[in-house]
Amino acid sequence: DMAELGNYRHFMQKEIHEQPRAIADTLLAAVTTSSVSPGIFGPGAEDILRAVNGVRILACGTSYHAAKVAEYWMESLTGLPCRAEIASEYRYRDSVADPDTLIVTISQSGETRDTIDAMIQAKNLGHKYSLAICNVPESALVRTADLKFLTRAGPEIGVASTKAFTTQLVALFLLTLVLGRLRGKISDQQEKVWLEQLRELPGLVQQALALEPQIAAWAEHFADKHHALFLGRGVHYPIAMEGALKLKEISYIHAEAYPAGELKHGPLALVDKDMPVVAVAPNDILLEKLKSNLQEVRARGGELYVFADLDSHFTPQEGLHLLRLPTNAGPLSPIVHTVPLQILAYHAALCKGTDVDKPRNLAKSVTVE
Ligand code: G6P
Repeated sequence: DMAELGNYRHFMQKEIHEQPRAIADTLLAAVTTSSVSPGIFGPGAEDILRAVNGVRILACGTSYHAAKVAEYWMESLTGLPCRAEIASEYRYRDSVADPDTLIVTISQSGETRDTIDAMIQAKNLGHKYSLAICNVPESALVRTADLKFLTRAGPEIGVASTKAFTTQLVALFLLTLVLGRLRGKISDQQEKVWLEQLRELPGLVQQALALEPQIAAWAEHFADKHHALFLGRGVHYPIAMEGALKLKEISYIHAEAYPAGELKHGPLALVDKDMPVVAVAPNDILLEKLKSNLQEVRARGGELYVFADLDSHFTPQEGLHLLRLPTNAGPLSPIVHTVPLQILAYHAALCKGTDVDKPRNLAKSVTVE
C-alpha cells in the first residue's frame, strides 16, 4: 500500500489530488465531438431519454449530495421535474410512481444495499426506465439498471468519498445536457459553450488544489472546535452539505449545513466565537443575498471562512477569512467549490490525528442494511 501512496500521506489526499485526472478520464470516455451523444448512457438511451417526463434520483451519503446538485441543474436547464431522495427512505415509503419518470441511482461502489433495493422498489412500483451512475463496471447496481454511465475515477480507497463525487457530478451534468438537448431547452450553441467549460474543468480543479497550503493553515483553527456550520445557497447548498459531511466523517467535528437564507430560522441561535462558519460563496446571482446572511453571522461574533471566486468582491474585515477560487465556473462551479472543502476536512483531520482513510465506525461500502 505504501508504494501506491507515492508522496501522499493518505489515500484520501492522493484521491483529492487525482481529481483533475479522474474528471478528464470521465469526460474523455464520453465526450468526443462537439456534442454529447445520448448513446453514452447505453444502447437505446436516446429513445428512453426522449420518453421520460421527469427524473427521480436515489442515492446514499456523498452520492446523495451529487443527486441534490443535479436537482438544481435538471430543473433549471431541462425543464424536467427532478427530485433527489435518500435511498433508505425511498425504499420504505409509499411514493407516487409515474411510470415515465426516469429513476437514476448514483453509487461509487454499486454495492450499497439501500440504493440497489431502492431501484428494485422503483421498478416494482411501475417505473419503466432506470439509469445507474457508478464507478464500478461489474457491480450489482450496474447489472440491475437499464441504462448506465461509468465514472472513471479509478479505485477509491479512502472511506470518505472525494474523486467519485466530482466525477458523479460530471456524469450528472452530461445527463442534464443530453436531456436538455433532447427537449429543445439547450441550443447547439449553448451546448458548445458548456462542453468547452467542461474541457477546462480539470484545469480549474487543479487551481483549486493549489490553495492547499492556505486551507491547511485555516484547518488549524478547526481542530479544537466542537461544531462547525457550512452555508451555501442554490446549487451550492448541496456542496455545503458535502463539506459538512467530509468534516464529520474524518475529523469527528460535528458539522451541519444550512442554506444560508434559513440561518435566521434557527442556526443563528448557535453562532458564537466557538463555532466557525464556512461559506461557499461563488459569484452567482445569490452572492449579494449570501453576503448579507454572512453579516448576520459576523454580528454575532462568528468567525467566517469564505470560499469566494476571484471576482466575488468581499470587503476585508476582522473575523472574515477569505480564499479566492479561479474564475467563476458557471454551472460547473459546484464541482470546483467542492475541492477546498475536501482539503479543509482532510487537514482538520490531520491536526486531530484521526485515522483519515479508515474513520471509526464507518465502512467504504455498506452492503447490508
Ligand atoms: C458509505 C461511504 C460513503 C459513501 C456511501 C454511499 O457510507 O462511507 O463515502 O458516500 O457509503 O456509497 P456508494 O458506494 O453507494 O456511493
